[in-house]
Amino acid sequence: MAAGRSDEAEAILRFYEEAGVTTAEAETSGGLWTMKDEEPASKKAPSRTAAPSPPIASKAAPASAADGLADAEQAAGSAQTLEELCQAIAAFEGCSLKHGARGPVIYDGILGADVLVLGEAPGAEEDRIGKPYVGRSGQLLDRMLAAIDLSRAPKEGQGAVCLSNAVYWRPPSNRNPSKAEVATCLPFMKRFIELSRPKLVLLTGNVPNQALFPDAPGITRDRGKVKVHETSDGQKITALPLFHPAFLLRQPIQKRWAWRDLLTAKATLNETLS
Ligand code: URA
Repeated sequence: MAAGRSDEAEAILRFYEEAGVTTAEAETSGGLWTMKDEEPASKKAPSRTAAPSPPIASKAAPASAADGLADAEQAAGSAQTLEELCQAIAAFEGCSLKHGARGPVIYDGILGADVLVLGEAPGAEEDRIGKPYVGRSGQLLDRMLAAIDLSRAPKEGQGAVCLSNAVYWRPPSNRNPSKAEVATCLPFMKRFIELSRPKLVLLTGNVPNQALFPDAPGITRDRGKVKVHETSDGQKITALPLFHPAFLLRQPIQKRWAWRDLLTAKATLNETLS
């Protein structure tokens, strides 16, 4: 249990989560990738056993946001492999969200896969299990990816994806991460892209899209537009913003646009692989 949370509060939060109370509206149409038959994720997935113990020594918390950013830049830049980067993120003390979370949620799927999916921040299930996108929106995301033959656990005929987030610790009460929290973690997200060398980055929702492309309009206008992110070592990485699956759970009618965007993703990926 996270420090400071009573058993009762924990049980109520779990009940709300399982009852889908985080979802503002019930699903009203069949549409694509319907979720009505889903079991709550918490029945299927085990909880995290322990937070990864980083071999990199944790530094003391930085005195200011500017120091936190400088620490993140230094730590991200020093990592020469994705594994080192994951250790550096776990050891990072500059994001205040760390104190309210059970542990870091860094990635799931195949490190270095051709497709990298970047989300916003872990939610309750992700915090509990220690992997991104394992709650209801993650289950929808898995179905969406499977529709274009991609998977975090690929089988014959499927391409591999890696899933990560713009922020690595759960924001309290499932709020969106603040601009400052996203900015502090941004050097890690950018280095994650750089070291992954993906053929395609899928940005789910405003948070990762505007973190990477600060002048981007809102996701409703920007979704489905293929763009290029240039890494600090000069790689030109194709990126595509998509609606966040949590938004699609609230507004299933929008799945038709999401389907169109997935077809764009598939075509773009085929092009970059050929
Ligand atoms: N939403 C996200 O953006 N990321 C997660 O890991 C889970 C839900």
